[in-house]
Amino acid sequence: MSIEDLESVALALVAPGKGIIAIDESTNTIKKRFEAVGIENTEENRRAYRELLLTAPGLSEHISGAILYDETIRQSTRDGVPFTEVMKKAGIIPGIKVDKGTVPLAGFPGDVVTEGLDGLRERLAEYVKLGAQFAKWRAVIGISEQNPSSTAIEANTHALARYAALCQEAGLVPMVEPEVLMDGDHDIETSYEVHEAVLRSLFNALYEHNVLLEGVILKVSMVIPGKDAAEQASVEEVAEATVRVLKSTVPAALPGIVFLSGGQSDEQATAHLNAMNRIGPHPWPLSFSYGRAMQQAALKLWAKDMRGNYAEAQKVVAQRARENGLAALGQWQP
Ligand code: 13P
Repeated sequence: MSIEDLESVALALVAPGKGIIAIDESTNTIKKRFEAVGIENTEENRRAYRELLLTAPGLSEHISGAILYDETIRQSTRDGVPFTEVMKKAGIIPGIKVDKGTVPLAGFPGDVVTEGLDGLRERLAEYVKLGAQFAKWRAVIGISEQNPSSTAIEANTHALARYAALCQEAGLVPMVEPEVLMDGDHDIETSYEVHEAVLRSLFNALYEHNVLLEGVILKVSMVIPGKDAAEQASVEEVAEATVRVLKSTVPAALPGIVFLSGGQSDEQATAHLNAMNRIGPHPWPLSFSYGRAMQQAALKLWAKDMRGNYAEAQKVVAQRARENGLAALGQWQP
């Protein structure tokens, strides 16, 4: 795949008023989401739930791509049509999560590093055959008195850069995701400083690894105080701080930036994105790649009556796509 092809996929992912739905929860993570609403974590329930989301009528009006999990990219609808085919027909670009989760970083209590580089070249080749056009790798950065260490930041951004280079070699657009967690009682300034250090390190590592920025999407957290912080920030403060840190660290050559929701409420995630786009124009489109903030309302509804609420749950997820699509244009009204 040429750089032009990578760039056109990257640009399509952040087309005006469109964003991404992340449905790439590992079997363990979806278990937690299902358990919270009383759904049994069977393969058929996971398949049926992902079918509900991917086939929601009207979804593609505001959804450019969906990130799948290894199990999901191999699954099909009840009628036997592979999910990737259904998606391509609807104009939704298939993506795949390729990291293998985090492990504690030896020598640095509280820090973690993401694994999954061993054998990645071969796995990427298979995902391309299965229809994926972009991939995702998530690095997790926690904040506490001791964390993150600069070693943890470097270990994580080095892994992201190696993953990104392998993706481009395979013809996949790498979505590079450093997530700075909201857990803790840190203030918004601390969140800003950690984001700044992580993003500087990330773009340095991408440069060192010959990654072409024109074929990369950044997926990042927002600059937000810890969940347990005494002082919470206004929507405008979060928007202003997030845009400021991005402008000071992310090259303009990047085709686009999308955000994760990271435990924000649906309304907060939409309001923050909307407020950022209101204070534009920015060097890149700012859009969404939400998991929980796209799905949680639909999942709750479906759990109450899996058959009876199926169509209604699809409407709810399409509505969340519409609201976030408007927020990506700065046109959302609460
Ligand atoms: P959340 O929006 O639920 O944080 O999930 C997005 C994601 O893909 C995290 O890796």
